[in-house]
Amino acid sequence: MTSQNPSRRRYLLCPPTYFSVDYAINPWMDPDRPVDRPAAQAQWRLLRDTLARLGHRTEVIEPVPGLPDMVFTANGATVVDGRVLVARFRHPERAGESGPHRRWFAAAGFRPVFAAGAVNEGEGDLLVAGRRILAATGFRTSRAAHREAARLLGRPVITLHLVDPRFYHLDTALAVLDDDRIMYYPPAFSLPSRRLLHTLYPDAILADEADAAVFGLNAVSDGRHVVLPAAARSLAHRLHAAGFTPVPVAVPELMKAGGGPKCCTLELRSR
Ligand code: ARG
Repeated sequence: MTSQNPSRRRYLLCPPTYFSVDYAINPWMDPDRPVDRPAAQAQWRLLRDTLARLGHRTEVIEPVPGLPDMVFTANGATVVDGRVLVARFRHPERAGESGPHRRWFAAAGFRPVFAAGAVNEGEGDLLVAGRRILAATGFRTSRAAHREAARLLGRPVITLHLVDPRFYHLDTALAVLDDDRIMYYPPAFSLPSRRLLHTLYPDAILADEADAAVFGLNAVSDGRHVVLPAAARSLAHRLHAAGFTPVPVAVPELMKAGGGPKCCTLELRSR
């Protein structure tokens, strides 16, 4: 059993004030199924309080009416060494989220703040893992965006291909646990990507179908505590056996939009 030192992190969140499922841009979204917004707000507060209780600093971006997915701040940008690559969304329904993020980062003193030329959905598809960035393509973020991220953020980027539409963002299929360790659901990736992941991370924790299907991989790790959906029980056991402390939270209302704890949490990495 190993023991990890948790580090104090800084996260950007957005309250689900205008959260709803008005359109369907992933297989989890059904606009005919009602959303309980007060329940979503309570679940979101629980997530924010959980991150704060673990010692992390949480900051909030003002929600915008008409942008029901803005609660998923992980998609708004990727932040490395204080450098910000703002997202450029695949779907027009979310395009309006880039502007508020760009302005928030500029006002918060981040420099430089880059507007993206290629389609990238922030930490939804670009996950910082130690010195490298694990990047996915297939559904949202383009291959060209991987090259752009490498150039602007100054880190080597490893390209991975997602193949199952349920796992349309990398953070629904893979979580970075610390600089050297990850957990993931192999069938969400193409065979060459699975081989690559196995080569890079031979000791990774592998999630099974049941854990992946409840968004167990949509987790936020500080190197020791891993905040993940409460329904991912066997994954929590595996994390515990590997020396991590699973911290379950239930966010079922947000899952109706295809999001979990990680989707609601954007890490602000300073220099
Ligand atoms: N409804 C949103 C979309 O489909 C959910 C985004 C979830 N975010 C994430 N980081 N996986 O774009």
